[in-house]
Formats: sequence, structure tokens, C-alpha cells
Amino acid sequence: MKISAVEKEYHNPVLLEECLEHLNLKAGGTYVDVTFGGGGHSGKILEKLHEGRLLAFDKDADAHRNLIKDPRLELIRSDFRFIEAELGKREIKAVDGILADLGISSHHVDAPERGFSFRFDAPLDMRMDQSQEVSAATLLNQAEEADIAKWLWQWGEVKASRRIARELVRRRALKPLETTFELVEATEACTPQKLRKKVLAQVFQAIRIEVNSEMDGLRELLTGGLKLLAPGGRFVIMSYHSLEDRMVKNFFRFGNLNYEDRRDFYGNQISPLKLITRKAIVPSEQEILANPRARSARLRVAERHT
Ligand SMILES: C[S@@+](CC[C@H](N)C(=O)[O-])C[C@H]1O[C@@H](n2cnc3c(N)ncnc32)[C@H](O)[C@@H]1O
Repeated sequence: MKISAVEKEYHNPVLLEECLEHLNLKAGGTYVDVTFGGGGHSGKILEKLHEGRLLAFDKDADAHRNLIKDPRLELIRSDFRFIEAELGKREIKAVDGILADLGISSHHVDAPERGFSFRFDAPLDMRMDQSQEVSAATLLNQAEEADIAKWLWQWGEVKASRRIARELVRRRALKPLETTFELVEATEACTPQKLRKKVLAQVFQAIRIEVNSEMDGLRELLTGGLKLLAPGGRFVIMSYHSLEDRMVKNFFRFGNLNYEDRRDFYGNQISPLKLITRKAIVPSEQEILANPRARSARLRVAERHT
């Protein structure tokens, strides 16, 4: 595939040292990087991992161009929600650490043709997995107005969610929505100029999350990954928006997705996970200065009980 002219580098890894330190690499261990991207974190893991094994996932074909040739690494083109099945196929029943650096890469926003950015006029795509049938255009042309409003509200916290959904439905009745700039124009028609950038970022985030089923994927990664973690094995998860971070935080705290505080007869919490980070680790000002896209990263770590 053509590499976009605006692209400087595929992705600049965030909180690299902190992720590595918290993975607590053991010689001979098996680790999973479920969001390979530009391979920044995987490369560092391989550098420090002697005799171990690294499985990596990325559902985006572009990320597979960054494959690091190393016999200890296998890069799997699959959604990480299938972690249990994919590792099962390889007869791997337990792993020592799972790293997730959620969301999209810089490549996604810098490559105009992928449709993730409101800065470029491009097809309304936003699929991380190019083989997926449903794109942003499919969703926005076919979904009920109420569903579009719900996504904008839930995934983007867009205040004018209902007005924007109504505007999109009005416009698509005249002509099917095809481009990112059509989504930009519909949003702008409902947004004061001074809020333009903020609301566009929220709208694009919301639609992208829905197109890629990001919240369902995270849910399945957490439950599937927990089953795979060996005693002492770690979850190291970095998220970039509050909904994901809240899910990770509560799952790590309670060890289940219902966020039930299960206690034994004596009142001791029963959870398969122990919190390693009570508060999320965030990038330093220096890192944010060098890489502004790191700004919203929140890293949380939990360990499977022995
Ligand atoms: C933030 S980037 C990771 C960057 C990487 N840590 C690095 O240092 O280059 C997230 C990557 O995960 C991939 N991804 C996101 N959600 C995924 C999912 N559910 N299944 C598989 N890959 C996913 C995206 O395609 C993207 O390449």
C-alpha cells in the first residue's frame, strides 16, 4: 500500500520504559503485545527478553509492514478479542504478561486515506481492519438516528449528539455520506466556531470506537486475557480515553466486569487480580512535549494472584 506523504513515522511509543518495567520480564517467559502497531513496545520487549517468546497482535494490515524479524516473535493478524482462541491454536495455555496500548496509532491519523482524521478529505472509512465490511460510511448511512446520537453521546461525550445525528440523517436523505469532510460539515453546522476542533475530535473518536467495536473488544481482552495469565503474570494496559480507562480500572480493582466487590466470610476481597498501580501512571511533561499525542495516556497494571 502507498505510504502517505504526510507520514513522518509510524508511531512513537508512549510510556515505553514504564511499560517494560511493569511487565517484569522473566527469562524464558511468554509475553503478548496485543497492539503491535509500529512495533515500538515489541522491539523493546525483544531487546530485554532473553530466550523468551513474544506473541503480538494487530488487526491492521499496515502494521504488519513493521514486522521485526526475530525468531522469538510471532505477529498475528487478528483482533485481540480472540486472544484466547489464537493462543489456544498455538497450544499456549498460560502467559507471563499482556501489554495493550489501546486505540489507533499515529499512522492511522496521519494517513489521509484511512479516514480517521478530520484534517483531510477522504473516504469515510475508519476501519482498523481493512477486511471488515462495516465502515464509518456504512454505519452513518444505515443506522437509526437514535443510535448515531447514542454513539456520539456515549463514546464521544458530544453535547450536541442529537442535533448532529439529526443533521447527518437530513443530509444523507439528500445524498449518501461518503467523505470525512461531509461529517465535518454536518458537525460544524451544529457547533459554535470556538468549539469546532474539540467537537470534531469527539465526533471522530465516537464514530471510530463504534466502527471498530473498541469497547466490546476491550471487554473480551480483559476476560480472555485473565484466563491466560499465569500466577504472577501481569496485565499492563494503556488507554487514551476515560471510558476505556474506567473499564480497565474497575476490572483491575474487582477482577470481574460486573465490578462486583466479592468478599469471603471474613470480609477479605476475593479477586484474581492484585493492583500494582493504585493510581494511573501518566507521561511526564517532557514526554508530552516531545510527543504531544502521549498527552491523554493512562497506564494501569495488575498482577494475577499466585
Ligand atoms: C496505539 S497503537 C500501538 C502502538 C505500539 N505500541 C507501538 O509502539 O508502535 C494501537 C495498535 O493496535 C491495533 N489495534 C487496536 N485495536 C485492536 C484490536 N482490537 N485488535 C487488534 N489490533 C488492534 C491498531 O491497529 C494499532 O496499530
